[in-house]
Amino acid sequence: MKSLIEPFRIKMVEAIRQTTERERTEILEKAHYNPFLIKAEDILIDFLTDSGTGAMSDKQWAAMMIGDESYAGSKSFFRFEKAVRNITAFTHIIPTHQGRAAERILFSVAVKEGDKVPSNTHFDTTRANIEFNRAEAVDFVIPEGKIPTLEHPFKGNMDLGRLADFLEKHHEQVPLGMITVTNNSGGGQPVSMENIRETSKLLHKYDIPFFIDACRFAENAYFIKLREPGYGDRDVLEIAREMFSYADGCTMSAKKDAMVNIGGFLAMNDETLAMNARNLLILTEGFPSYGGLAGRDLEAMAVGLEEVLHEDYLKYRLRTAAYMGERLTEAGIDIIRPTGGHAVYIDAKAFYPHIPPSQFPGQVLCAELYRKGGIRGVEIGSVMFGKKDPETGSEIPAEMELVRLAFPRRMYTQSHFDYAIEVIIETYGDRDRARGLKIVWEPPFLRHFTAKFSPVD
Ligand code: F0G
Repeated sequence: MKSLIEPFRIKMVEAIRQTTERERTEILEKAHYNPFLIKAEDILIDFLTDSGTGAMSDKQWAAMMIGDESYAGSKSFFRFEKAVRNITAFTHIIPTHQGRAAERILFSVAVKEGDKVPSNTHFDTTRANIEFNRAEAVDFVIPEGKIPTLEHPFKGNMDLGRLADFLEKHHEQVPLGMITVTNNSGGGQPVSMENIRETSKLLHKYDIPFFIDACRFAENAYFIKLREPGYGDRDVLEIAREMFSYADGCTMSAKKDAMVNIGGFLAMNDETLAMNARNLLILTEGFPSYGGLAGRDLEAMAVGLEEVLHEDYLKYRLRTAAYMGERLTEAGIDIIRPTGGHAVYIDAKAFYPHIPPSQFPGQVLCAELYRKGGIRGVEIGSVMFGKKDPETGSEIPAEMELVRLAFPRRMYTQSHFDYAIEVIIETYGDRDRARGLKIVWEPPFLRHFTAKFSPVD
């Protein structure tokens, strides 16, 4: 059959609220043209993030009911530990309340001032946690990974040549190396098995531990199955196991590929590092058998980690982004190609050629998608990454002006996506009428969350 259906049926529904364009225009003004300031109940389709927003299965909800809430040695912890070990084979598995808590603990115990941590591309929270420990986060994604419309099967790959040169010069200041799968900041692009293996070899040549930022490990494993020679007949669990076999540890936001609303973990083989991490965990997150979570959350993660590796799920998951990408490309809208696992990234500079980066075309597109159809996406451009010239105070734009539409797992159906595609194409039809935005208020850090905008005159 040509039709690819959602590999689940719906047992519980949550109503979403329709609003009129007039209502949304008013809501948008009140929210100062910043989607983060719109109430969730005023959104029809929420593509702000795929993190912690997905639908849990009947089996996950059932497992939550048998959560063991004992403070120490809970049964749910051992079930969770077994599920993580089954995939990663790491010796020490430490639960945390989400990904950045695992990052904070890892970098607090493993890096010191003046250190350097290379990756393909560090996610914002990873970079911030490295910098908070006065170390430097360095990105070495391949050059192809930075050209939006260039097709390449593994645009998340590490540039091995640059990493080798860097290690030759700086290996004494490198306490660990990382790779993010899939590469969220670069468009949700996968990393090949060969690249993971070679990155591991380069680091291990200098006895440097290799950690995987594993948020979307299952999506990455399925891309390897589809695209890398020699993996087409392999089981995704086997592929995931091979990915982790080259690493010494991982950080994980379970809010992505463990299909839960909250949770994460840190895992590693090194005994001393694990002891130090557990000591810090007790200080700030909780006892090592719950790490800031409830027993029921550990149960839900254990089941989610099994379900995410079902191939019919992964096939549908990757096809969702590809489907939207194909429809938008046919309509002449530029996106990052090929589509990654969890999101579609629209090139807002190409969408609104008449709006200069200083007037935030990505923010304009987010506002217009909301006005037109109640859809919420997120700007990844000069609002999020633009800098100010320290001398003149003028804005230095970001490299790209993108809008990310990220898809919660198992949440929206084909017709929701067809509707969203229609809204984007209609918004494109009206592009000449869109006006730029200016910032009227901003906080000192991470301005995209709370900045206020108004239309330029
Ligand atoms: N690493 C990657 C690659 C991520 O995408 C995220 C979160 C984290 C680490 C941090 O995990 O949120 O559980 O603390 N990404 C979300 C997003 C927020 O929208 O892409 P967390």
